Amino acid sequence: MSELSFKDKVVIVTGAGGGIGREYALAFAKRGAKVVVNDLGGSHTGEGKSSKAADKVVDEIKAAGGIAAANYDSVEFGDKIVETALNNFGRIDIVINNAGILRDVSFAKMTDKDWDLVYTVHCKGAYKLTRAAWNHMRDNKFGRIIMTSSAAGLYGNFGQANYGSMKMALVGLSNTLAQEGKGRNIHCNTISPIAASRLTESVMPPEILDQLKPEYIVPLVLYLCHEDTTETGSVFEVGAGWVSKVRLQRSAGAYMKDITAEKVKENWPTIENFEVNPAYPTSAADSVSGIINAANSGKSSGPVLHRKPSTTAAA
Ligand code: NAI
Repeated sequence: MSELSFKDKVVIVTGAGGGIGREYALAFAKRGAKVVVNDLGGSHTGEGKSSKAADKVVDEIKAAGGIAAANYDSVEFGDKIVETALNNFGRIDIVINNAGILRDVSFAKMTDKDWDLVYTVHCKGAYKLTRAAWNHMRDNKFGRIIMTSSAAGLYGNFGQANYGSMKMALVGLSNTLAQEGKGRNIHCNTISPIAASRLTESVMPPEILDQLKPEYIVPLVLYLCHEDTTETGSVFEVGAGWVSKVRLQRSAGAYMKDITAEKVKENWPTIENFEVNPAYPTSAADSVSGIINAANSGKSSGPVLHRKPSTTAAA
């Protein structure tokens, strides 16, 4: 199989001064892309800044014969990162929203600062950068965008109410951008990675971390960002050399004429039964029409409704 090339594509990778982001930057550059290496260079809790992290990766890329430019702005100033891409390389093709921080604390002890900082980096940052790149992608009729979520968002995790909220918000952003971008060949997908980095080194034992090399995240992202790839609006879990697609599943549900709390109680086993005819809505319209169809057919055919499963996967 021929190598997936990114020759002359312009890629922005946020948080590319270390961890998984650095691996993306090196890999895209190795495959011919011109890379904007963005990194604020602060601590893993979002304090301080330094140009060193981004500079080091740019030097590495250049030493290997690649093309890269550094940007030291916080992702919340995404327009400045896009400016770096345009000033250096004249266009923007691919955006990897990867920068991240943690402010883990139980919800009982969470402060506004813990919430706001995590919001600013993950949620606002991905919004600002993607928004600044979006119309250039529309004009070029080409764009590939990656959002970085987390198992803490998809499934929840103790001590990560702030982080989990923002990571799930990115799934919602990605789902909508996938729909709005479709007509202009702009694809947006979300990954939920697991990798050894400064964010995970204190929470996992070394023998597990050894299996979670950050470079194992890169191949999926390269594939998703390639011009030949049509995948969009999807969520993937990735780590340790394993890749899996995730989607929402809806039970067939129950229609209850003159619905009451008691009828909900009575029908609970049916409402939460995923075994019989589950559905996989792929858009809000799909979801709503499924509900209306289910209610209408329930009115004519009895209390328990089944909807034909959709074959397309959804986030
Ligand atoms: P990391 O801490 O090694 O890398 C994150 C990079 O983002 C750092 O170099 C940091 O300086 C940069 N950064 C932080 N705030 C920034 C800002 N405001 N503007 C620009 N750059 C900023 O962490 P890692 O593990 O490589 O994480 C990458 C992404 O993957 C993050 O979004 C993280 O939440 C996500 N993630 C990582 C997991 C893991 O297992 N490592 C698990 C789930 C999600």
